[in-house]
Amino acid sequence: MDKRPPPRPAILVHGGAWAIPDEEWPAHRAGVDRAVRAGWDVLRRGGEALDAIETVVRLLEDDPTYDAGVGSVLTRDGHVEMDAAAMDGRDLRVGAVACVRTVRNPIRLAREVMRSDHVLLVGDGAERFAREVGVETCDPAALVVDRERVRLETWRRDAATADPRDAFQHRPDGPRGTVGAVAVDRGGNLAAGGSTGGTPGKRSGRVGDTPIAGAGLWADNRVGAAACTGWGEGILRIGLARTAVGHLREAAAQDAAWLAVREMEDRVSGRAGVIVLSRDGSLGYAFNTPRMAVAFMDEELEEPFVIGPAPRG
Ligand code: GLY
Repeated sequence: MDKRPPPRPAILVHGGAWAIPDEEWPAHRAGVDRAVRAGWDVLRRGGEALDAIETVVRLLEDDPTYDAGVGSVLTRDGHVEMDAAAMDGRDLRVGAVACVRTVRNPIRLAREVMRSDHVLLVGDGAERFAREVGVETCDPAALVVDRERVRLETWRRDAATADPRDAFQHRPDGPRGTVGAVAVDRGGNLAAGGSTGGTPGKRSGRVGDTPIAGAGLWADNRVGAAACTGWGEGILRIGLARTAVGHLREAAAQDAAWLAVREMEDRVSGRAGVIVLSRDGSLGYAFNTPRMAVAFMDEELEEPFVIGPAPRG
């Protein structure tokens, strides 16, 4: 007989791990707070973890604060190119898209890919698929905000003198605010998802960790789920999400998160953050960037727990 307690629904949301400036911090906190409430509402009503994840990520894609959907960073030639993915812990099913330019909510398209017989669609093929299945597309200009036009100009100036090996990892402003979430529902089903515009000044065609199962996200009902944010190349090389979930076999969620981030730092000098949820609804998060926007909600809390240092000064 299964002696485990009944599943405890819970949701954990992130809005990026980087040197979030003081003036942008309140919006980052408010956004993850709003998103975790919306995701919790899905779970509280008995909804599925995957639907909660999609709800959260869509809200954050629509919020220009973050590097996902509207507000995405720009490639070095001035375009938005977005990646997104969702993973279902029941059967390890994954749906992912990369390098899409005209899809308003890439997480919607990732869910459609999950329903297809593919795992990952990129570029023009992904955009054609969006039109076939009726996922909303838009003028790419509708996704570009002034903040990112200015950031690209700064990036171009800095890039002229920077060591190319340091281009993303050691820039003072660091990577941008990829968004993501992990959740467990009343049925004990786990899910993970994320969405990003990538890293500022990336080459066109560059794909980061976010749409790659094992790197940017992982969900397995037997163990737990994780979603990552930060410098994608480091996350990809260590397989951060699956590393973190692997540690859950022997460690508590908080320890698993730290073990994974330390391993990334030691092995590949990565700079990133990870959120982790065990199958019993325990949470963990860790980051080696100056800040990470994180919010958590379960039925023991009356209000979401929004993590992270308050603005200095
Ligand atoms: N973590 C997002 C990216 O590197 O693309």
